[in-house]
Amino acid sequence: MGSRDPLDQADLTRRAGERWARVQVVAETGSTNADLLHDETAPDRSVLVAEVQTAGRGRFDRTWTSPSGAGLTLSVLVRPTVLMSGWGWLPLLAGVAVAEAVSEVAPQLEVALKWPNDLLLARAGGLPGKAAGILVQSAEDAVVIGIGLNVSTSADELAVPGATSLALCGAEVDRADLAEVLLRRLDARYAQWADCNGDAEAAGLAMAYRELCATIGSDVSVATGGTELVGSAVDVDPAGRLVVDVEGELHAVAAGDVHHIRAAGR
Ligand code: BTN
Repeated sequence: MGSRDPLDQADLTRRAGERWARVQVVAETGSTNADLLHDETAPDRSVLVAEVQTAGRGRFDRTWTSPSGAGLTLSVLVRPTVLMSGWGWLPLLAGVAVAEAVSEVAPQLEVALKWPNDLLLARAGGLPGKAAGILVQSAEDAVVIGIGLNVSTSADELAVPGATSLALCGAEVDRADLAEVLLRRLDARYAQWADCNGDAEAAGLAMAYRELCATIGSDVSVATGGTELVGSAVDVDPAGRLVVDVEGELHAVAAGDVHHIRAAGR
Protein backbone atom coordinates (compact mmCIF):
# COMPACT_ATOMS: atom_id res chain seq x y z
CA MET A 1 0.00 0.00 0.00
CA GLY A 2 1.36 3.45 -0.90
CA SER A 3 2.30 5.96 1.77
CA ARG A 4 -0.45 7.89 3.49
CA ASP A 5 1.96 10.46 4.91
CA PRO A 6 0.33 13.90 4.83
CA LEU A 7 1.06 16.12 1.85
CA ASP A 8 3.18 19.15 2.62
CA GLN A 9 1.84 22.56 1.59
CA ALA A 10 5.27 24.15 1.03
CA ASP A 11 6.47 21.18 -1.03
CA LEU A 12 3.31 21.12 -3.15
CA THR A 13 3.46 24.89 -3.66
CA ARG A 14 7.02 24.52 -4.96
CA ARG A 15 6.12 21.57 -7.17
CA ALA A 16 3.04 23.33 -8.58
CA GLY A 17 5.13 26.27 -9.73
CA GLU A 18 4.14 29.83 -10.45
CA ARG A 19 1.23 28.92 -12.75
CA TRP A 20 -0.87 28.16 -9.66
CA ALA A 21 -1.47 31.32 -7.62
CA ARG A 22 -2.23 29.73 -4.27
CA VAL A 23 -1.84 26.16 -3.02
CA GLN A 24 -3.33 25.18 0.33
CA VAL A 25 -3.24 21.78 2.04
CA VAL A 26 -5.53 21.12 5.01
CA ALA A 27 -5.84 18.05 7.20
CA GLU A 28 -9.64 18.01 7.15
CA THR A 29 -12.54 20.00 5.76
CA GLY A 30 -16.16 19.50 4.78
CA SER A 31 -15.72 19.78 1.03
CA THR A 32 -12.87 21.39 -0.90
CA ASN A 33 -15.36 22.35 -3.62
CA ALA A 34 -17.65 24.11 -1.14
CA ASP A 35 -14.71 25.89 0.49
CA LEU A 36 -13.46 27.36 -2.78
CA LEU A 37 -16.96 28.15 -4.06
CA HIS A 38 -17.62 30.24 -0.97
CA ASP A 39 -14.20 31.90 -0.88
CA GLU A 40 -14.81 35.17 -2.72
CA THR A 41 -11.20 36.19 -2.20
CA ALA A 42 -9.75 33.07 -3.83
CA PRO A 43 -7.50 34.16 -6.66
CA ASP A 44 -7.82 32.72 -10.14
CA ARG A 45 -5.94 29.38 -10.16
CA SER A 46 -6.29 28.50 -6.47
CA VAL A 47 -5.71 24.93 -5.31
CA LEU A 48 -7.14 23.38 -2.15
CA VAL A 49 -6.14 19.87 -1.09
CA ALA A 50 -7.65 18.04 1.89
CA GLU A 51 -6.40 14.84 3.46
CA VAL A 52 -9.99 13.98 4.32
CA GLN A 53 -13.44 15.49 3.73
CA THR A 54 -16.38 15.13 6.10
CA ALA A 55 -19.00 16.27 3.57
CA GLY A 56 -17.48 15.41 0.19
CA ARG A 57 -19.90 15.91 -2.69
CA GLY A 58 -20.28 13.93 -5.89
CA ARG A 59 -22.36 14.46 -9.01
CA PHE A 60 -26.15 14.25 -8.66
CA ASP A 61 -25.97 15.09 -4.94
CA ARG A 62 -24.13 11.90 -4.14
CA THR A 63 -21.47 11.78 -1.47
CA TRP A 64 -17.75 11.24 -2.01
CA THR A 65 -15.84 9.54 0.76
CA SER A 66 -12.22 8.49 1.02
CA PRO A 67 -10.15 7.55 4.09
CA SER A 68 -7.61 10.14 5.19
CA GLY A 69 -4.51 10.06 2.98
CA ALA A 70 -5.82 7.21 0.81
CA GLY A 71 -6.56 9.37 -2.17
CA LEU A 72 -6.06 12.75 -3.73
CA THR A 73 -8.91 15.02 -2.74
CA LEU A 74 -8.56 18.45 -4.24
CA SER A 75 -10.28 21.34 -5.94
CA VAL A 76 -8.99 24.09 -8.17
CA LEU A 77 -10.70 27.41 -8.77
CA VAL A 78 -10.35 29.21 -12.08
CA ARG A 79 -11.93 32.39 -13.38
CA PRO A 80 -12.20 31.74 -17.12
CA THR A 81 -12.18 34.71 -19.46
CA VAL A 82 -13.60 32.72 -22.39
CA LEU A 83 -17.30 32.95 -23.18
CA MET A 84 -19.51 30.96 -20.83
CA SER A 85 -20.85 29.03 -23.83
CA GLY A 86 -17.49 27.22 -23.92
CA TRP A 87 -17.50 26.23 -20.25
CA GLY A 88 -19.29 22.94 -21.00
CA TRP A 89 -15.93 21.47 -21.92
CA LEU A 90 -14.35 22.12 -18.50
CA PRO A 91 -15.61 18.85 -16.93
CA LEU A 92 -14.29 16.92 -19.93
CA LEU A 93 -11.01 18.87 -19.85
CA ALA A 94 -10.53 17.88 -16.22
CA GLY A 95 -11.17 14.24 -17.08
CA VAL A 96 -8.54 14.33 -19.81
CA ALA A 97 -6.01 15.90 -17.42
CA VAL A 98 -6.67 13.28 -14.73
CA ALA A 99 -6.37 10.42 -17.25
CA GLU A 100 -3.14 11.89 -18.64
CA ALA A 101 -1.68 12.36 -15.16
CA VAL A 102 -2.47 8.79 -14.10
CA SER A 103 -1.03 7.46 -17.36
CA GLU A 104 2.15 9.49 -16.79
CA VAL A 105 2.79 8.28 -13.24
CA ALA A 106 1.48 4.74 -13.76
CA PRO A 107 1.97 3.87 -17.44
CA GLN A 108 1.20 0.21 -16.72
CA LEU A 109 -2.47 1.07 -16.05
CA GLU A 110 -5.07 1.07 -18.81
CA VAL A 111 -7.09 4.26 -18.43
CA ALA A 112 -10.33 5.41 -20.04
CA LEU A 113 -13.06 7.95 -19.38
CA LYS A 114 -16.77 7.38 -18.99
CA TRP A 115 -18.62 10.48 -20.16
CA PRO A 116 -18.34 13.08 -18.87
CA ASN A 117 -15.29 12.44 -16.69
CA ASP A 118 -15.24 9.29 -14.56
CA LEU A 119 -11.77 7.77 -14.68
CA LEU A 120 -12.00 4.04 -15.41
CA LEU A 121 -9.16 1.60 -14.86
CA ALA A 122 -9.01 -1.83 -16.45
CA ARG A 123 -9.20 -4.67 -13.92
CA ALA A 124 -7.83 -8.14 -14.52
CA GLY A 125 -10.68 -10.49 -15.36
CA GLY A 126 -13.44 -7.98 -14.72
CA LEU A 127 -15.18 -4.85 -15.84
CA PRO A 128 -13.29 -1.55 -15.57
CA GLY A 129 -13.62 0.17 -12.20
CA LYS A 130 -14.05 3.84 -11.34
CA ALA A 131 -10.91 5.25 -9.73
CA ALA A 132 -11.72 8.95 -9.87
CA GLY A 133 -14.70 11.25 -10.03
CA ILE A 134 -14.89 14.94 -10.87
CA LEU A 135 -17.45 17.52 -9.79
CA VAL A 136 -17.44 20.88 -11.57
CA GLN A 137 -19.44 23.71 -10.02
CA SER A 138 -19.64 27.40 -10.82
CA ALA A 139 -20.49 30.61 -9.00
CA GLU A 140 -20.57 33.87 -10.94
CA ASP A 141 -17.20 34.20 -12.70
CA ALA A 142 -15.58 31.25 -10.91
CA VAL A 143 -15.48 27.59 -11.80
CA VAL A 144 -14.41 25.00 -9.23
CA ILE A 145 -13.12 21.68 -10.48
CA GLY A 146 -13.14 19.06 -7.71
CA ILE A 147 -11.26 15.83 -8.16
CA GLY A 148 -11.39 12.73 -6.00
CA LEU A 149 -8.88 10.04 -6.96
CA ASN A 150 -8.50 6.71 -5.15
CA VAL A 151 -4.77 6.10 -4.79
CA SER A 152 -3.93 3.53 -2.08
CA THR A 153 -7.54 2.71 -1.16
CA SER A 154 -7.98 -0.97 -0.28
CA ALA A 155 -10.95 -3.09 -1.40
CA ASP A 156 -12.71 -2.88 1.96
CA GLU A 157 -12.28 0.91 2.07
CA LEU A 158 -14.01 1.54 -1.26
CA ALA A 159 -17.23 3.46 -0.80
CA VAL A 160 -19.29 1.94 -3.62
CA PRO A 161 -19.38 -1.23 -5.70
CA GLY A 162 -17.72 -0.72 -9.05
CA ALA A 163 -15.01 1.52 -7.59
CA THR A 164 -11.31 0.79 -7.61
CA SER A 165 -8.01 2.47 -6.86
CA LEU A 166 -4.61 2.81 -8.46
CA ALA A 167 -3.15 0.39 -5.89
CA LEU A 168 -5.85 -2.22 -6.49
CA CYS A 169 -5.03 -2.07 -10.20
CA GLY A 170 -1.35 -2.63 -9.52
CA ALA A 171 0.20 0.84 -9.24
CA GLU A 172 1.97 2.10 -6.11
CA VAL A 173 2.02 5.84 -6.58
CA ASP A 174 3.39 8.69 -4.50
CA ARG A 175 0.60 11.22 -3.90
CA ALA A 176 2.87 14.25 -4.06
CA ASP A 177 4.23 13.12 -7.44
CA LEU A 178 0.70 12.47 -8.65
CA ALA A 179 -0.56 15.87 -7.43
CA GLU A 180 2.35 17.64 -9.14
CA VAL A 181 1.73 15.89 -12.46
CA LEU A 182 -2.01 16.42 -12.20
CA LEU A 183 -1.62 20.17 -11.67
CA ARG A 184 0.80 20.36 -14.60
CA ARG A 185 -1.56 18.45 -16.92
CA LEU A 186 -4.54 20.48 -15.77
CA ASP A 187 -2.66 23.72 -16.35
CA ALA A 188 -1.54 22.65 -19.83
CA ARG A 189 -5.01 21.57 -20.99
CA TYR A 190 -6.61 24.65 -19.44
CA ALA A 191 -4.10 27.01 -21.08
CA GLN A 192 -4.65 25.45 -24.53
CA TRP A 193 -8.42 25.65 -24.12
CA ALA A 194 -8.28 29.28 -22.94
CA ASP A 195 -5.84 30.27 -25.70
CA CYS A 196 -8.35 28.89 -28.23
CA ASN A 197 -11.15 30.87 -26.59
CA GLY A 198 -12.88 27.71 -25.40
CA ASP A 199 -12.87 26.00 -28.82
CA ALA A 200 -12.20 22.38 -27.83
CA GLU A 201 -11.56 21.23 -31.40
CA ALA A 202 -8.98 23.96 -32.07
CA ALA A 203 -7.31 23.26 -28.72
CA GLY A 204 -6.84 19.57 -29.57
CA LEU A 205 -8.95 18.80 -26.51
CA ALA A 206 -11.86 17.22 -28.38
CA MET A 207 -9.51 14.84 -30.19
CA ALA A 208 -7.75 13.87 -26.94
CA TYR A 209 -11.10 13.35 -25.25
CA ARG A 210 -12.44 11.12 -28.04
CA GLU A 211 -9.31 8.96 -27.83
CA LEU A 212 -9.79 8.44 -24.09
CA CYS A 213 -13.57 8.17 -23.92
CA ALA A 214 -14.83 4.57 -23.64
CA THR A 215 -18.43 5.79 -23.86
CA ILE A 216 -18.15 6.83 -27.50
CA GLY A 217 -18.90 3.75 -29.56
CA SER A 218 -20.61 1.95 -26.66
CA ASP A 219 -24.26 1.02 -26.26
CA VAL A 220 -25.48 3.03 -23.31
CA SER A 221 -28.39 3.90 -21.13
CA VAL A 222 -28.43 7.48 -19.91
CA ALA A 223 -30.57 8.73 -17.04
CA THR A 224 -31.18 12.38 -17.85
CA GLY A 225 -33.79 14.80 -16.59
CA GLY A 226 -36.19 12.12 -15.31
CA THR A 227 -36.05 10.04 -18.50
CA GLU A 228 -33.84 7.24 -19.73
CA LEU A 229 -32.29 7.14 -23.19
CA VAL A 230 -31.10 3.82 -24.53
CA GLY A 231 -28.99 3.85 -27.64
CA SER A 232 -25.51 4.09 -29.01
CA ALA A 233 -23.15 6.90 -27.96
CA VAL A 234 -21.66 8.25 -31.16
CA ASP A 235 -19.72 11.42 -30.27
CA VAL A 236 -19.42 14.54 -28.16
CA ASP A 237 -20.65 17.77 -29.74
CA PRO A 238 -18.99 21.24 -29.76
CA ALA A 239 -20.58 21.99 -26.37
CA GLY A 240 -19.20 18.81 -24.77
CA ARG A 241 -22.60 17.09 -24.78
CA LEU A 242 -22.84 13.35 -25.35
CA VAL A 243 -24.54 12.52 -28.65
CA VAL A 244 -26.68 9.39 -28.39
CA ASP A 245 -28.26 7.68 -31.39
CA VAL A 246 -31.64 6.29 -30.36
CA GLU A 247 -33.06 4.33 -33.29
CA GLY A 248 -31.66 6.80 -35.80
CA GLU A 249 -32.57 9.94 -33.87
CA LEU A 250 -29.68 11.91 -32.36
CA HIS A 251 -30.01 13.27 -28.80
CA ALA A 252 -27.44 15.64 -27.25
CA VAL A 253 -27.19 15.06 -23.49
CA ALA A 254 -25.77 17.90 -21.37
CA ALA A 255 -26.03 16.14 -18.00
CA GLY A 256 -26.78 12.55 -17.19
CA ASP A 257 -25.73 9.33 -15.55
CA VAL A 258 -24.29 6.94 -18.14
CA HIS A 259 -24.27 3.17 -17.93
CA HIS A 260 -22.26 1.18 -20.48
CA ILE A 261 -24.49 -1.68 -21.67
CA ARG A 262 -22.03 -3.00 -24.23
CA ALA A 263 -18.64 -1.37 -24.17
CA ALA A 264 -16.94 -0.27 -27.35
CA GLY A 265 -14.22 -2.64 -28.57
CA ARG A 266 -11.05 -0.65 -27.83
C1 BTN B 1 -18.45 12.04 -8.72
O1 BTN B 1 -17.87 11.06 -9.19
O2 BTN B 1 -19.65 12.03 -8.48
C2 BTN B 1 -17.65 13.28 -8.46
C3 BTN B 1 -16.85 13.17 -7.19
C4 BTN B 1 -16.04 14.41 -6.91
C5 BTN B 1 -15.33 14.34 -5.59
C6 BTN B 1 -14.38 15.49 -5.36
S1 BTN B 1 -13.33 15.21 -3.98
C7 BTN B 1 -12.77 16.87 -4.06
C8 BTN B 1 -13.98 17.73 -4.38
N1 BTN B 1 -14.70 18.09 -3.20
C9 BTN B 1 -15.92 17.57 -3.16
O3 BTN B 1 -16.76 17.73 -2.25
N2 BTN B 1 -16.13 16.83 -4.26
C10 BTN B 1 -14.99 16.86 -5.14
